[in-house]
Amino acid sequence: MTSTWAAPGRVNLIGEHVDYNDGLVLPFALPFVTRARVSTRSDDAVRVVSEDVGGVEFATAISPGEVEDWAAYVAGVVWSLQQRGATLPGLDIALSSNVPLGAGLSSSASLTCSVASAINDECSLGLDPRELADVSRVAENDFVGVPTGTMDQLASMLCESEHLLLLDCRSMETRSIPFAPAAANMTLLLIDSHARHSLVGSEYGDRRSDCEAAADDLGLESLRDATLEQVASLQDDRQRRRAHHVVSEIDRVQRVAAILDSGTPADIGAYLTASHESMRDDFEISCEELDVLVDAALDGGALGARMTGGGFGGCAVVLCRADDVESVTSRVESSYDAHGWQRPTIWTPQPAQGAHRLS
Ligand code: GLA
Repeated sequence: MTSTWAAPGRVNLIGEHVDYNDGLVLPFALPFVTRARVSTRSDDAVRVVSEDVGGVEFATAISPGEVEDWAAYVAGVVWSLQQRGATLPGLDIALSSNVPLGAGLSSSASLTCSVASAINDECSLGLDPRELADVSRVAENDFVGVPTGTMDQLASMLCESEHLLLLDCRSMETRSIPFAPAAANMTLLLIDSHARHSLVGSEYGDRRSDCEAAADDLGLESLRDATLEQVASLQDDRQRRRAHHVVSEIDRVQRVAAILDSGTPADIGAYLTASHESMRDDFEISCEELDVLVDAALDGGALGARMTGGGFGGCAVVLCRADDVESVTSRVESSYDAHGWQRPTIWTPQPAQGAHRLS
């Protein structure tokens, strides 16, 4: 027998760097997926073949540090499942993916979630989608060593087509919110800036530490509980600005969700742009390319625009009226041309389904 599963990458509409502060996020799944086909073997080897990057073999009894590079994400899932008590046989795992790499669209969560889902199915482990998201996060945090929050994996597992996923990262409650901009004569553009700044690894951890230190200073468990008045009382300027981003961003997510509930999506534009400004000025995770892109989109008539994901490169989301798509994209392209940069890649993705069985 074999089990084949697909799990998508994600884009976050709003709610950045708040998942590890117990906040609220609002991602949707992209129509880009990693496919994982898993079958069991009679020995205890795990053989992984990837259409794009080659093959690797390791023993089922794997430990962190023994497999590196892209295959560490797969080995991490095998390890993480066993940490939860699963007994695994040898496995053949075949992978293919069309999630753009390094663009901040969670190609890694789509990889771990597809592998976890297919192994869970093939080996009848009985884990539910939230548990599989957690297996995937632990693989990434503790095997690969990337200190992500929990948004990407839950989005890849739980998102529904045509909906955003409002995810409370403290209670882990979720609510799907219908999102069909075209029905309101609007378009959501996803634009890859092509910027890839290597800062992302160390800076991500630094931002987490700043947030923890700010919460500590306020005597709180996390910044989820902080008010803007409390934030204003922080003595350390950097911590105050980091915390201001987090607390104001959680508020923006709540406001955007309420606006979408009331059916007036054009009104979310100002919050998207305010989120970008907060990330640029207070959280300091934007970069020149993303700032140029966002400014050009707004100059071209967009209702709102912001960088999305971990920062220091990757993508922006831009909301505009359908009639303005051309002026927005041509303004973005001409500003890129003026800087002599490679033109950005532009998609108009529809919210897609989370992890699902293909066969
Ligand atoms: C990366 C992390 C997520 C989240 C975002 C920022 O994608 O993997 O957990 O923190 O950055 O919102």
